[in-house]
Amino acid sequence: MRSLWLAGVAVLTLCPAWTSSLAQGTSVAGRWFATGRMLHNGEQEKAILDIKQDGTQLTGNVRGLGYTFPIKGTVQGAHFELFGADWNDKKPFLTGDLVDGKLVGLQWNNKFEARPVTPADEFPKLPYIEPPALHTVPYNGLAKTPPMGWNSWNLFADRVDDQTVRTMADAMVTSGMRDAGYIYVNIDDTWEGLRDEHGVLHTNSKFPDMKALADYVHSKGLKIGIYSSPGPRTCGSYPASYGFEEQDAKMFAEWGIDYLKYDWCSAATIYSNDKLQPVYQKMGDALAATGRPIVYSLCEYGLGSVEKWGPAVGGNLWRTTDDIRDEWGSMIFNIEKQVPTAPYAGPGHWNDPDMLEIGNGHMTADEYRTHMGLWALTAAPLLAGNDIRTMTEETKSILLNKEVIAVNQDLLGKQASPTRKGDIETWIKPLADGGVAVGVVNFGAAEAKATIRAADLNLAGSVKSARDLWAHKDVQFANDAYSAAVPSHGILMLRVAAR
Ligand code: GLA
Repeated sequence: MRSLWLAGVAVLTLCPAWTSSLAQGTSVAGRWFATGRMLHNGEQEKAILDIKQDGTQLTGNVRGLGYTFPIKGTVQGAHFELFGADWNDKKPFLTGDLVDGKLVGLQWNNKFEARPVTPADEFPKLPYIEPPALHTVPYNGLAKTPPMGWNSWNLFADRVDDQTVRTMADAMVTSGMRDAGYIYVNIDDTWEGLRDEHGVLHTNSKFPDMKALADYVHSKGLKIGIYSSPGPRTCGSYPASYGFEEQDAKMFAEWGIDYLKYDWCSAATIYSNDKLQPVYQKMGDALAATGRPIVYSLCEYGLGSVEKWGPAVGGNLWRTTDDIRDEWGSMIFNIEKQVPTAPYAGPGHWNDPDMLEIGNGHMTADEYRTHMGLWALTAAPLLAGNDIRTMTEETKSILLNKEVIAVNQDLLGKQASPTRKGDIETWIKPLADGGVAVGVVNFGAAEAKATIRAADLNLAGSVKSARDLWAHKDVQFANDAYSAAVPSHGILMLRVAAR
């Protein structure tokens, strides 16, 4: 959920001058208040930084409307640097100086200013709602193979609107994405307006009529998804479903929603992690009660061993990682992180290493082929995150590679696991027809020769045929092995049939 900082949804700037007591604000330690951009529903983003100091070391947390996360950092004289404590970043997300009782500097590349907190700045304390006792939510019969579609977040973030979704739905049809299996068109965060006195959550002005939009998407032979959080606010700080689970689920069903991504975020300001399961179960029950088949996507970044209880709360998929970024290191980090969850993937319930970045411009074509290949081999949901309306032929050839999609959609539903030798990593996925799909990734800086041995595939002496899924050609095993060159950061992918 760090993406909102990266994506700048919570850019914090332009604090009004604070002229009261300077007893606060004489060191970096303390509680600081910052305001940010206007949200699309007319509210203003705000955050409180709680910083503790021990010598030159800083710890604490940041809380916004929709999120809270721990921080760590250093201070030298008046200069400070802060990092997300759980992030793996080399660059601080916040850096600056104590100037005249204020923190002044940069949040990533944006101007930042914070002043000491006043009582009026505090977040309202919401009543605690105990989630119901655990039971098993019946399987909804959906997602027998990993869900496929498109989601607005990776490229559009808070810029998604009705028109974008309509034109994207059009493009899903004209590009061939729909016919290749990508049927869900999912609206992520920032569609929300305000909740009224009857508890009805309205859309904001970007989405004038959600039912009409759902009807439009359905008229294209597609399905539509939406997003909320079990907390009071979404990660992007918009109103969410805390205390209104049944009402929201009913409204989603009335709109014709087919898929819900339910993102933990501000639930962390109310519940500890031992409540993850009952809290997710509550929405699972609410969706089931609507009687509408709605794919249930749990988004809680792999907390609390979600793979062990995801199906019991009615979940069809669950995130296993933090947010993906459009870069090789992030993509690989996410796919490797979900390796231990492999035994828990299967028809109806999938591990989700986050959405695709293919076509968003910051990886090479070889790297995007590896991204697609690894998501296919690991039976991950295939949710494109690029602009389908303008994608290049190269991007199309990756997202629309039907032979690779078939590996992902294989009915056995097995998640490939890797073995690594030096720079070469081999992922093997057993298939329903008794054959296997195998992917060999080259992590080295130069092209390398990869050898796939039938014995490693449990097919010694019984390889019937083999096909290279990126070259789209049949290849021959000789002496029970096949070798080929793999470019740096590229993938060799074969489908091997057994005799
Ligand atoms: C979190 C999720 C992302 C996206 C954003 C929206 O960061 O992990 O996938 O949904 O929230 O605010």
